[in-house]
Amino acid sequence: MSTPKTNQQAEIVVDQVSMHFGSGERQVTALENVSFEVYSNEFVSLLGPSGCGKSTLLRLMADLLQPSTGYIAIGDQHPREARLKRKFGIVFQSATLFEWRTVKDNIELPMEIMGVKKSEYSAISNQLLELVGLSKFKDHYPWQLSGGMQQRVAIARALSLDPPLLLMDEPFSALDEFTKEKLQLDLLEIKRQTNKTIVFVTHSIPEAVFLSDRIIVLSAHPGRVHSIIQVEREEGNPAQIRKSEKFHEMTALVRNCFNEESDSRDEQIV
Ligand SMILES: Nc1ncnc2c1ncn2[C@@H]1O[C@H](COP(=O)(O)OP(=O)(O)O)[C@@H](O)[C@H]1O
Ligand SMILES: [Mg+2]
Repeated sequence: MSTPKTNQQAEIVVDQVSMHFGSGERQVTALENVSFEVYSNEFVSLLGPSGCGKSTLLRLMADLLQPSTGYIAIGDQHPREARLKRKFGIVFQSATLFEWRTVKDNIELPMEIMGVKKSEYSAISNQLLELVGLSKFKDHYPWQLSGGMQQRVAIARALSLDPPLLLMDEPFSALDEFTKEKLQLDLLEIKRQTNKTIVFVTHSIPEAVFLSDRIIVLSAHPGRVHSIIQVEREEGNPAQIRKSEKFHEMTALVRNCFNEESDSRDEQIV
């Protein structure tokens, strides 16, 4: 439904990617012939029902899996090279923090591992704490934080080596509605301040519409690109987006994609 602007530089290329798990009668085709591009500084959501291959696609981009066929490039590089060069940070549904390390120590871990000097990384982690609104909690331990705050730590940690790209797999789906909406708003502000390219997996239509520049709608069994939608939004205060007519129009338009295909109707899509 949209044509990407040709003067933009593709930061991610996914070209005819298929992914099969298992073999013989038990073979599952998670993804079939999936192709799209993500441009620099874009916020792109991968939206679809549970089991349509969203996590598989993100894991392929992150070099955590290899495609059965097809090709993926991150900034002109193989995902392995991109991973080794720390071209992306990842945030999962669960924050996976180290319980025995403070908030600040958790954020600093990737820099510590990469051999950044303590004098340098302490200043960076202070900036990141500020960015995610956790400066006052820097000496707390993960178990002293709410789920939303733990995800803020995970976001700061993913940004610590300053990768151009952030890969996020349903990072807010375990949070209550109020916390989720606050984090979504804050993520837009983080994006505005850091200029990252973000690929965000979700099964929520309003979440995808609220956050994204473009939405890649996937259909299930096997996972295919159903459509690619350019999100139009009204200018102004992001906190008001959800109340705008455009927002409701866009969610209706995206929802129609799922209603078109009877086998894509799924209670996981909200
Ligand atoms: N390691 C695996 N082994 C076998 N099947 C898998 C594996 N990972 C995912 N799948 C299957 O691939 C399909 C897509 O899964 P997934 O990418 O997790 O979907 P989503 O994230 O959209 O819910 C599902 O049918 C799932 O059962
Ligand atoms: Mg998933």
